[in-house]
Amino acid sequence: MHSYPYTITISSEKGGVGKTTLATNLAIYLKAMREDLPVTLFSFDNHFTIDKMFELQKREEGVPDVHELLMGAKAREVVQTGQYGVGYIRSSTELGDIHERFKGPMSLTRMLAESGISGIVIIDTRPDLNILTQNALYAADRVLIPVKDLPSLENCKNIFALFDQRGIDKKSLALIPCLIDSRIKFDGIFKDQKTLLRAIAVNRGYRCLDTYISKSPKVESLNTNPDGKIYPILTHARGTEVHSQFMEISRDILRSFDATKETRACLYHTWLLEKEAHKKESYLARLEGLAERCLICGALLADHSDDRSFYFETSDRAARGFLHGYCVSKMLCSALYGLQEQDPSFDAAKALVAEKAARSVSLLLPRISSEESRLDYRQFSMNGEQLLQKNVDMPGFEAGEFNGIHDRLYLLLNEALAGFEGALRQESWLAVYPVDPVNPEAVLHEDSYRSVHRLQKLLSEAILTF
Ligand SMILES: Nc1ncnc2c1ncn2[C@@H]1O[C@H](COP(=O)(O)OP(=O)(O)O)[C@@H](O)[C@H]1O
Ligand SMILES: [Mg+2]
Ligand SMILES: [Zn+2]
Repeated sequence: MHSYPYTITISSEKGGVGKTTLATNLAIYLKAMREDLPVTLFSFDNHFTIDKMFELQKREEGVPDVHELLMGAKAREVVQTGQYGVGYIRSSTELGDIHERFKGPMSLTRMLAESGISGIVIIDTRPDLNILTQNALYAADRVLIPVKDLPSLENCKNIFALFDQRGIDKKSLALIPCLIDSRIKFDGIFKDQKTLLRAIAVNRGYRCLDTYISKSPKVESLNTNPDGKIYPILTHARGTEVHSQFMEISRDILRSFDATKETRACLYHTWLLEKEAHKKESYLARLEGLAERCLICGALLADHSDDRSFYFETSDRAARGFLHGYCVSKMLCSALYGLQEQDPSFDAAKALVAEKAARSVSLLLPRISSEESRLDYRQFSMNGEQLLQKNVDMPGFEAGEFNGIHDRLYLLLNEALAGFEGALRQESWLAVYPVDPVNPEAVLHEDSYRSVHRLQKLLSEAILTF
C-alpha cells in the first residue's frame, strides 16, 4: 500500500523566534518517543543547521539535497539516515531558481504524496512567505508558528490571511509561545509574557498550544560549541524546563498523528487520482462516440497505418470522427476547384489544398432551401479568424444524385448531417480540424478537446454574423 507522510511545518515570518530549534529537536524527541516511527526533516533555509546536527559523516559531494527533492527526485534518493535515527534531507543554497517551478501552491503536497515517505515529515522554513513557504504551509497537517513577542504575533496574521485567501481550513494552524523568559513579570491580569501573548492570540482568533517553550541559557549554549557542533536538548539539556516542554509538545503531536486517518498528502493524492480517472473516463467516452469509418471513402479506420489527419465534429456534436488526409484534400480539390483526379493540374492543386487544410479549420455549412442549394464553405485560422469564404453550388444534392465532382462532399454531408428521413439536420454544420496523424486521438485529450470546442464556439459566432 502507498504510504503518505503526516507533515508538520514550522513557520514564522520573523527570524530568531526558535523555528529551527523547534524543528530539529522535535524530530529528535518524536524519534526517541517512538523508535519505529520514521521521522524525516528538511529545511528551506540555507543555514545548514540540520546538516550540522544530523549528518553522520562530513558533507560528501554529489549527495542530493532539498534542491533535488524540489526538482522531483524520489524521496528514497534524497532522504538520508542521520544521527539519532532521524531521516534528513541535506540543505541547499540554490533554491532561488526553484521559485519558477513552484507557481502552484500544491506542488509540494503532491511531491510528498508521491514520495512514498511515511511517518512524520517536519519542514523548517525561511522567515518569509515565499512560494516555497506557502507550499510547505498548504502541505502541512499541522503548522506550528513560534511567537516570542508582539511583533512576531503581529506577523502571524499574514499566514492566517493566506489560508483565508485560498479558502483552506485554518484548524491546522497553531501558535506556540517561544523563548519565554519567566523572569519577566507584569502587573495586572496578564502576569507574564506567555499569558499576555496567549491572551492576545486567542482574542484574535488564533489557536495556541497549551505548551510554550522557555528561554534557557543552557539551550542557547547548545549552538555555540568549540567543535562547531549543535547538540540536541534531549541529550544535552535534560535538566531544563525546555526538555519537559518538548516532551509535552511531542506527545501532543503524536496524539494528533495517531488520530489522523488521512493526511493532507493522502487526501490530495486521492483527489488527484479521482480527477485523473474522471479525465480518462471522459476521454474514453469521447473515443466511443467516434465514427468507425472515414465518412468520405467509407473505409474502416481501425487500421493504425491509416492516414487519419483530420478530425471532424458536427455543430450538434452528434457525429464525430477521423477522416483520411487524402480523402479530405481530394474532396476539397473537387468541391472548391472543380478538379478531378484525371485532370493534369490535380496533383499540384491537391498538394496546395492539403497544405492549407493542415493549417486551418474548415467549416462546411449546407444552405439548402427551396431557393438555394449551396455549401457555405469557410476556412478559419487556428485562432478562429476567418481566412476564406466560398459558396459551392450543390447541384442534385437534394435529389441524391452524384456527379463525380461532388461525390465525396455529398457523402460526407449526408453521413455527418443526415437527419430524419434523409433530410439534413436543420442549421447543422460540420468543422474539420487538422490533427497529428501520428497520434490523432490526442485531439480528444482534455486540453486539446477543450480548444476544439473553443474554436467550435468561435465558428458558430462567425456564422451568425454573416
Ligand atoms: N529555548 C531557547 N532558549 C534560549 N535560546 C534559544 C531557545 N531556542 C532557540 N534559542 C536560540 O535563539 C536563536 C534563534 O533560534 P532559531 O531556532 O535559529 O530561530 P529561527 O529558526 O526562527 O531563526 C538561536 O541562537 C537559538 O540558539
Ligand atoms: Mg531558522
Ligand atoms: Zn477516407
